[in-house]
Amino acid sequence: MTHPRQPQHQKPDACAFVIFGVTGDLTHRLVLPSLYNLAASHLLPDRFCIVGIARKGMSSEQLRDNLMEGLRKYATRPVEDEVAQRLLQCVTAIEADPSEPDSFDQLKARLEKLEAARETHGNRLFYLATPPSAFAPIAQQLGRVGLLKEDGKAWRRLVVEKPFGTDLASAKKLNDQLLELVTEHQIYRIDHYLGKETVQNILVLRFANGMFEPIWNRHHIDHVQITVEEKLGVGTRGSFYDATGALRDMVPNHLFQLLSLVAMEPPARFDAHTVRSEKAEVLSAIQPLTEQEALQNSVRGQYKAGMVGDAELADYRKTKDVRPDSTTETYAAIKLTIDNWRWAGVPFYLRTGKALGAKRTEVAIKFRQAPFAMFSCTPIDTLAENYLVIGIEPTQSITLQFNTKIPGPTIRTDGVQMKFNYKDYFQAEPATGYETLIYDCMIGDNILFQRADSVEAGWKAVEPFIEAWKKAGRDGLHGYEAGSEGPQAAADLLARDGRSWRKLA
Ligand code: BG6
Repeated sequence: MTHPRQPQHQKPDACAFVIFGVTGDLTHRLVLPSLYNLAASHLLPDRFCIVGIARKGMSSEQLRDNLMEGLRKYATRPVEDEVAQRLLQCVTAIEADPSEPDSFDQLKARLEKLEAARETHGNRLFYLATPPSAFAPIAQQLGRVGLLKEDGKAWRRLVVEKPFGTDLASAKKLNDQLLELVTEHQIYRIDHYLGKETVQNILVLRFANGMFEPIWNRHHIDHVQITVEEKLGVGTRGSFYDATGALRDMVPNHLFQLLSLVAMEPPARFDAHTVRSEKAEVLSAIQPLTEQEALQNSVRGQYKAGMVGDAELADYRKTKDVRPDSTTETYAAIKLTIDNWRWAGVPFYLRTGKALGAKRTEVAIKFRQAPFAMFSCTPIDTLAENYLVIGIEPTQSITLQFNTKIPGPTIRTDGVQMKFNYKDYFQAEPATGYETLIYDCMIGDNILFQRADSVEAGWKAVEPFIEAWKKAGRDGLHGYEAGSEGPQAAADLLARDGRSWRKLA
């Protein structure tokens, strides 16, 4: 995210972009198409090289072919030969395998030679697009051979993909391992939600407008709902998902990014340190729950066979690589509160699930009801709810719902909506959502990346749910039909408080 005072479209410094996992799904689907989009917008450095850490025996030529194939499949816009060639001629394949430490000594020698030839001034970015078990071993080898040490003006950065740990202890361990090798400012922990324009816009909506902040607190807000619903089932990711579940997969990362942006205090400055400190602060203010309280304030579900749209989806337990007696949740709803003056007593309801009837990602802020008494002598019997809804998927929008008078001689009201749709105002090239993140890694702005303390605060807040659900096993796991709205118990969680989830408009 470029700072307001920075000139638009600053070109990144010359650098070497080293990708581990270069022939993997993530590189094909997101990293390369994003680099392509940046190349097309002339936002790559003038002096640049891409080093793909490839398997033994793969030549640079073969790697370029492999990447070109991926690009044709996943590019978000028509691939222009000139741009693709400009990008791919930067690619060199080099072998390195953390189980063969010598290969990293060779990597160092070859990389330094390449850097001299390409005049990249020793600036390096190591992108770990690998399974998480490889993060620490790769970083340790890079550290051992001295590739991560910043010297003079040359910068060295480590980009780490999700998932960052599987619980508080493993996230702490990984943070400790990385922080032994590099300092925090060198680490870029990616959460792709922060690449979404509408997610970044939460900061602008709240802090670049004078009218929201005065009412953004417990005096005016009744509660907040954060919803990430997906139609897709688990697909081919059975083995990862069955060990992970909806809560770990989505809540401490993506849903908490949304929560922290909505709930954080106004940062004094728009810089990485200040913004990330406020985000970490609010996450650490989530009220700690006992396991018993976690059970009372949560619902988990697992999908059964059903129709999602026109497509039939098999029972979760019949998915490839899922245990037939699995108790892993594919749906999670939790209620949290934040222990500070702004939010005391305001519940935050979070829900996420797979194989649901609709794809929807939104943050809905529900304002307190207006006093009804003055209407008691009119035909009005109910007032519509006042919501401000930040739509992230499928439409990128901001909607305000309020009551208005129905034209006519008697006083009657109806709930209406004022809606801003991104696409009505701005034309954006179709993008992967990773462009800003990759660009920011290269210009050294880590405002959109997770800091160690936030990651740990996130895991800490979900730990009671993880532990309580593990112990409860099958008890309290609700089945729901694929294609439905999720388990009824999730509706009951709010009904208990006299509230309900916002219906799809
Ligand atoms: C990923 C999860 O991080 O986010 C997936 O591992 C999930 O299970 C995806 O489907 C959702 O992302 P989005 O951008 O489609 O909401």
